Amino acid sequence: MSKLQIRGGAPLFGSIEVDSSKNALLPIIAATILTNGVTTLKRVPRISDIDNLLKILISLGIKAHFKNGDLIVDTRDITYTEVTGDTASKIRGSIFVLGAILGRFGMASIPYPGGCAIGSRPIDLHLQGLRDLGITVREKNETIYCTRTTKPMPKTTDIYLDFPSVGATENFILASVIGKKRVRIFGAAREPEVEDLCNFLISCGATICGAGTSTVTIQGVRALHGTTYTAIPDRINTGSYLIATAVCGGEVTLKNTNPTHNLNLISKLRKAGCDIATDATTITIKSTKRPRAIGTVQTAAFPGFPTDLQSQLSVLMSIGRGTSAITENLFENRFQHIAELQKLGGKYCIRGRTVTITGVKELCASLDEANPTNLTASDLRGGVALTIAALASQGTTIVHNAQYIYRGHANIERDLVALGANVIRLDF
Ligand code: UD1
Repeated sequence: MSKLQIRGGAPLFGSIEVDSSKNALLPIIAATILTNGVTTLKRVPRISDIDNLLKILISLGIKAHFKNGDLIVDTRDITYTEVTGDTASKIRGSIFVLGAILGRFGMASIPYPGGCAIGSRPIDLHLQGLRDLGITVREKNETIYCTRTTKPMPKTTDIYLDFPSVGATENFILASVIGKKRVRIFGAAREPEVEDLCNFLISCGATICGAGTSTVTIQGVRALHGTTYTAIPDRINTGSYLIATAVCGGEVTLKNTNPTHNLNLISKLRKAGCDIATDATTITIKSTKRPRAIGTVQTAAFPGFPTDLQSQLSVLMSIGRGTSAITENLFENRFQHIAELQKLGGKYCIRGRTVTITGVKELCASLDEANPTNLTASDLRGGVALTIAALASQGTTIVHNAQYIYRGHANIERDLVALGANVIRLDF
């Protein structure tokens, strides 16, 4: 268990480097199962979701270790196709292991995946698409059993996704890259993380067209080899630091970013009154005045506004001049941070999937250090939102359940301290 002690109220200044993307790396690490060889993934953050995924890979007979920030995975000795134990049910990313084992061995079993409790998070789209690929899927005792059919299949299989699910698109790609068939995914997710998975697989010898568009075509190949690869920068962590600066004020430069992945957020921050300059890999944000309200924001699939930045944006809206609203269209349980933000003086009204936010001049924490304001995180992004709110609030705040934050933010307190914030991590 961890908590963060934050003495807030100061602006942020300085420059930090953003880590590689968790949501790109999880399917990429699972994809190494498809290769027969050694893969080096550069600059992999030490976050608990990745550690848990590696535990699953190691249980299959894979060797994995970190060296100077890189992750080296040796998949030559995979011996098992069945995932057992409770690690899979701790992370959503374990579902990728299913597609990858199936893709290489034609059979796999895995307990139901877990992940942050932000909604019901079904896997029906995953299982339906696998069935469309000719895979027999059985569900028994909270475990999914899959076997590739031995019956002759058409040379081309088409999958139509009714919703552009990121994970389902990635799973179908993983399950299809090895083989003799052509697979076309219509209605595919266009998130940069999907494109990055495809680029990784292409560097291992896969044939994929249309990555990053809504139609992805995969022509199966006989085998994949190891590679060396650097995943894309984490656009969600980039966004969190941009919002933190907009909320606290100051001037921050973020290195190792891809501004084109954050265009939607950047447009909202400019609307709020921030100055933002970008070049190919760097974003600089300057925030000197209380933000303007930014109207209504709807979360949506890429390139829409990301659900993973919704909680953080709600903190910016909390101190905006005027009223704003966010409608959360992807996950039904993603306003858990709002009750906590109220403890800092934020004003909210939740109706169904929409939270209306009346901006207050400032958020305030307890000025009595011995008796700080206590906020409790319920999920990764909500925890980051509470951290941003605490940074902006004069006084002392404890953010409890910070272990959720460490699922996806390896170095949050180190980064914030580098920007001049007063943040201490307490593990117990
Ligand atoms: C991924 C990200 C997560 C992000 C989300 C949306 C990873 C590891 N996680 O999650 O951080 O918030 O994309 O950008 O990359 N759905 C179904 N049935 C399914 C699958 C999904 O109904 O079989 C629904 C979900 O409940 C949700 C929507 O589709 O309402 C989006 O989910 P999806 O795009 O699949 O998100 P994840 O891949 O789980």
